[in-house]
Amino acid sequence: MREKLQNLKNEGLAQIIQATDPAELENLRTHYLGKKGALAEIAKELSRLEPEEKKEIGQLFNDTKTAIANALNSKPQILNLKPQLDPTLPGIKPSAGHLHPVTHAIEEISSIFEKIGFVRVRYPEVEWDWYAFEALNEPQNHPARDELETFYVDAPENSKLGKVVLTPHTSNGQVREMERTKPPIRMINIGKCYRRQSDVSHTVMFHQFEGLVIDTDINITHLKGTIDYFVKQFFGSKRQSRLRPYHFQFTEPSFEVDVTCDICSGKGCKLCKEGWLELGGAGMVHPNVLRAGKIDPSKYTGFAFGCGVERTYMMKSGLKIDDLRLLYGNDIRFLNQF
Ligand code: PHE
Repeated sequence: MREKLQNLKNEGLAQIIQATDPAELENLRTHYLGKKGALAEIAKELSRLEPEEKKEIGQLFNDTKTAIANALNSKPQILNLKPQLDPTLPGIKPSAGHLHPVTHAIEEISSIFEKIGFVRVRYPEVEWDWYAFEALNEPQNHPARDELETFYVDAPENSKLGKVVLTPHTSNGQVREMERTKPPIRMINIGKCYRRQSDVSHTVMFHQFEGLVIDTDINITHLKGTIDYFVKQFFGSKRQSRLRPYHFQFTEPSFEVDVTCDICSGKGCKLCKEGWLELGGAGMVHPNVLRAGKIDPSKYTGFAFGCGVERTYMMKSGLKIDDLRLLYGNDIRFLNQF
């Protein structure tokens, strides 16, 4: 009887292991554990045994029954898992996210300026009129204000600082930085800006990086040298920069900064027409701005520049994005390419 039980157990477990579908498992369950099954047959014989033997064989009987029942119960899960258990298949690569291309550009820009001693700062995006315009030599009703299509916030006015605006440029950081620290100043302020413009080359929210250097004996060559250094680091050693006369209220003299076109290297082509692409604005800090920041213009001079991050990023070799708004459309198919 002992042998009979042992054989039954071995045979039963082997059959369960080999079974490949649920119907087969059901048959095995009836065959071994059913009311008229193999174990039920043995149970009948069990009652005829001597008490001594009954104890030992009874134990073996129970073990056999449990082993077969456990095997039958756990098999369906193994059957389900089977397709995933091929250890020879290559693993499934989990999809990993990455930083937004504009974040990459911001990090690269700030590290280029940090290498030459600029301190990275950030100033409010919701700002007083005073820092955004007035302190920058742009009094109220000045026509220069029209160029920046500014959003005004519906909030109470401050008697000294005026209305509340969404910063249309990062130049609001200039006087804030002069208030935070004394010269020598080397600031790189990167932040969000807002203007009422939306088309292929404008988004209502965009980023600028603003440089400000104030010290004794700072002149235009320092501005040109700094811009040149940045252009070569960010765009590559073959690209050149130029300062083209322009007008801003907060700098005198003022310039627009251009960079040679990546395609024609400054000769002129279909894409750029003249050979140069506009990077941003710059100039020597206006004495009135230094005064607004409580810095004596007879002792100190400085330069400032401000450029759009998205525009600068798009001018980098190899990147041709024909609609700037794609950057903020949150379309994963677009963002995945970077
Ligand atoms: N704030 C100017 C703009 O947004 C750029 C600028 C910055 C010009 C600093 C001169 C000096 O167009």
